Amino acid sequence: MEQKNIMEYDTVSLKDQEDGVAIIDQTKLPGEIQVILLKTADEIWDAIYQLKVRGAPAIGVAAAFGIYVLAKQIHTKEYPVFLEEFQKHKRYLDSARPTAVNLSWALGRMEEVVKRQKDRPVEEIKELLKEEAVCIQEEDIQVCKSIGEFGLTLLKPGDGILTHCNAGKLAAVRYGTATAPIYLGQERGYGFRVFADETRPLLQGARLTAFELASSGVDVTLICDNMSGAVMKNGWVNAVFVGCDRVAANGDTANKIGTSVVAAVAKQYGVPFYVAAPTATIDLNTLTGEDIVIEQRDPKEVTAMWYQAPMAPEGVKVFNPAFDVTSHTLIDGIVTEYGIARPPYETSLREIFDRKKKK
Ligand code: MRU
Repeated sequence: MEQKNIMEYDTVSLKDQEDGVAIIDQTKLPGEIQVILLKTADEIWDAIYQLKVRGAPAIGVAAAFGIYVLAKQIHTKEYPVFLEEFQKHKRYLDSARPTAVNLSWALGRMEEVVKRQKDRPVEEIKELLKEEAVCIQEEDIQVCKSIGEFGLTLLKPGDGILTHCNAGKLAAVRYGTATAPIYLGQERGYGFRVFADETRPLLQGARLTAFELASSGVDVTLICDNMSGAVMKNGWVNAVFVGCDRVAANGDTANKIGTSVVAAVAKQYGVPFYVAAPTATIDLNTLTGEDIVIEQRDPKEVTAMWYQAPMAPEGVKVFNPAFDVTSHTLIDGIVTEYGIARPPYETSLREIFDRKKKK
């Protein structure tokens, strides 16, 4: 049987009849497209921690569906017991990864439903949780599309675009964030040329971005992380578009490790550097990048993973932060679903949220 195109699969979906959350296991891509069903708290936590589902928006959607599936398994009619169990699951899922704010944002939205509806029977609250989770998933599609429309205004046909990590469909529900202008441009015949950083150590650029863009017919060239300077110096890049895991109130942005290097190189060569950011990923309670917790990961991701035999001396010290913070001073614009924020971000990001409130 012919394999479906990766773009035809849902990154995350609810399988209510089967009491589970279905995800594409992204650790297997691009070699194998395997959809797995997560049913227990440990399976959901592990899938997020192991990056089987990853990318800030997709983590949020998986957590929302996940906590609904777990809430269904709480067998009580007593609201206080239900709330306590629900919050236990929430704290546990929230501990899977610290940097992407979408995880706590989505779980917080789900908890709000439980608290707001405290006078309703528990069974009705469960139904409302399902509606909220579906809403989070559906909103993501619209949010990414709007980011794409605003992002497209920063580009012209034939442009070269460099991106880092995977902020694509595989990191969201559809379109992705940083890739949304690329996909919309593709639909409209813009003929973009995309450079995808391979993104050491977990290779999201090579395994995921290059895969999904090539599967969609986009002209994509894979480069090693240390080649972005060379392609920019050659004049092949007109704009950098990256995603984000948390944007602080001053515009400092946490994204996949290596992003800040790309931003510094872009500044050197006068290439505009844009962050595609759903408002769900903007955290005005975090004042600056200094306040963002950066996830540290297993040294083996650097020393041994992907190699037939470990390629580093045994016991060598390893520093393996999953993200870094790009200073707001290196960011030319933050593209949200409500428009493009420009420096100074303290005021422009607040204006974006004012627009959101009025909608
Ligand atoms: O560790 P990952 O693969 O979850 O990191 C993903 C990123 O850094 C993405 O750029 C970010 O989450 C934005 S996804 C739209």
